[in-house]
Amino acid sequence: MKILIHIDDVAQWRDALARRLPEVEVVTSEAPAAERRGADYLAVWKPSAELLQEQEHLKGIVNLGAGVDALLNNPGLPKDVPIVKLRDAGMGELIADYTRYGVLHYQRDFDRYLRQEAATEWREITVVDKTEWPVGILGLGAIGQHVAQSLAADGYPVHGWSRSPKSLENVTCHHGEAGLWDLLHQVRTLVLLLPDTPATRHIINTDTLQALPDGASLINPGRGTLIDESALLDALGPGEREGRLRGALLDAFPNEPLATESPLWTHPRIRITPHMAGPTPMDAALDQVVETLQAWEAGESVTTVDPQAGY
Ligand code: GLV
Repeated sequence: MKILIHIDDVAQWRDALARRLPEVEVVTSEAPAAERRGADYLAVWKPSAELLQEQEHLKGIVNLGAGVDALLNNPGLPKDVPIVKLRDAGMGELIADYTRYGVLHYQRDFDRYLRQEAATEWREITVVDKTEWPVGILGLGAIGQHVAQSLAADGYPVHGWSRSPKSLENVTCHHGEAGLWDLLHQVRTLVLLLPDTPATRHIINTDTLQALPDGASLINPGRGTLIDESALLDALGPGEREGRLRGALLDAFPNEPLATESPLWTHPRIRITPHMAGPTPMDAALDQVVETLQAWEAGESVTTVDPQAGY
């Protein structure tokens, strides 16, 4: 069996995978082209089109991340090769930390205190208790569920939304078109953890932003394409004075790195992080790679990505 691997720090991943599968040939995207060819499986994160196209007899691809949009949109992706994406391999906890930080940023007024600090203003703001701070999570996949449950355990009322009905302990679950509006009307912070699919593109637009209560805040550790950027800027309004939307903490953008000239960088009520909310932890990811390859080789059924649905 031959596996080709491609991700940042690929040599480290190759060595760790080779230790787990000593009988298997593991090559990296940095190997010469002749060595790269003839792989049975790929384990890849954002490979080039050429890397995908040079393989002729692939039996399967493991996507080394939770979101499979970059792979599905890759023009070199061969048709009819099954794809497996990582389930929550530890990213859920990292993204839960990121989201907790973001929720606290608004619920405990750190955004306002940063502005006060810049103006050398000493003024204590009355705390809104977390039990009065409903948080909405759009997307209840493995990561959305983890985030929803960790916020619920922290004591926030949590609402979750998914396309089809789900039920989760300590989370008020909504689904479908009507459920989306139900959720939007009652949350003070909205968290986006949906995949990038034709159905989710610009789900945050003028109408959905309008449905949020005045002064709501937005956290996006999901995908940049979920947000209509000009609707976001409209809802925020210009400058430091809080508009209809209080602020946004954004980790994902339609084009990354975010262009230097993007108005998002300089908006005083937008916080930007460079897609760092949920990096793939190597060990847990490789455990899933090994499990998947073994199941494929044994002819067992494996849950694969539905390219039509986009996740
Ligand atoms: C990161 O963005 C991922 O999809 O895992």
